[in-house]
Amino acid sequence: MSAYRDRFAGRTAVVTGGASGLGKAAAARIVAEGGRVVLWDLNAQALTAAAAEVGAAHVIALDVADPDAVAAAAEASAQALDGRIDILVASAGITGATVPVQDFPVDSWKRVVDINLNGVFYCCRAVVPFMLANGYGRIVNVASVAGKEGNPNASAYSASKAGVIGFTKSL
Ligand SMILES: NC(=O)c1ccc[n+]([C@@H]2O[C@H](COP(=O)([O-])OP(=O)(O)OC[C@H]3O[C@@H](n4cnc5c(N)ncnc54)[C@H](O)[C@@H]3O)[C@@H](O)[C@H]2O)c1
Repeated sequence: MSAYRDRFAGRTAVVTGGASGLGKAAAARIVAEGGRVVLWDLNAQALTAAAAEVGAAHVIALDVADPDAVAAAAEASAQALDGRIDILVASAGITGATVPVQDFPVDSWKRVVDINLNGVFYCCRAVVPFMLANGYGRIVNVASVAGKEGNPNASAYSASKAGVIGFTKSL
């Protein structure tokens, strides 16, 4: 049961990380309140299940850290949504290693920043032209209190989420 039944009537959304957790819940809420959603996620199997659960219009399996894949997905999503992308919920994210900085694996640092920070930028960059063309846009980039306060032993996660907060403020 939704508190605002038609809040998203006529609106369309792309939700990254839409196969799980906060992204899936946000997508379900948008659909329940009258909107149409396309789910993006790395996990193709989970996407299929989430699409049925949420009632998604379309799904795209991709890595948000791949700017070309993100750009292609934005085009395909707009097509599936009658030319509109009104809303972006950028929820895809990973935690990475949780170890002291001197032991932090460089590969894990790079992957966390690539997904949590660069990925958010790629997604915003790809959908904003559709929002501008249609004169409407709302973006929710999911950060974390870790980006505000810093989490012990989670240097990459904390730094990437701080970056998301800064980037979002600059939009
Ligand atoms: N759960 C929490 O307590 C919490 C707190 C603060 C912030 N967050 C943030 O909220 C967001 C969602 O977290 P969650 O708890 O729902 O996590 P989750 O693991 O349930 O969902 C994240 C989804 O992102 C997808 N994903 C991961 N890497 C990807 C990639 N490279 N490309 C595309 N999709 C990818 C995963 O497959 C997964 O479906 C994350 O950005 C997380 O950092 C979560």
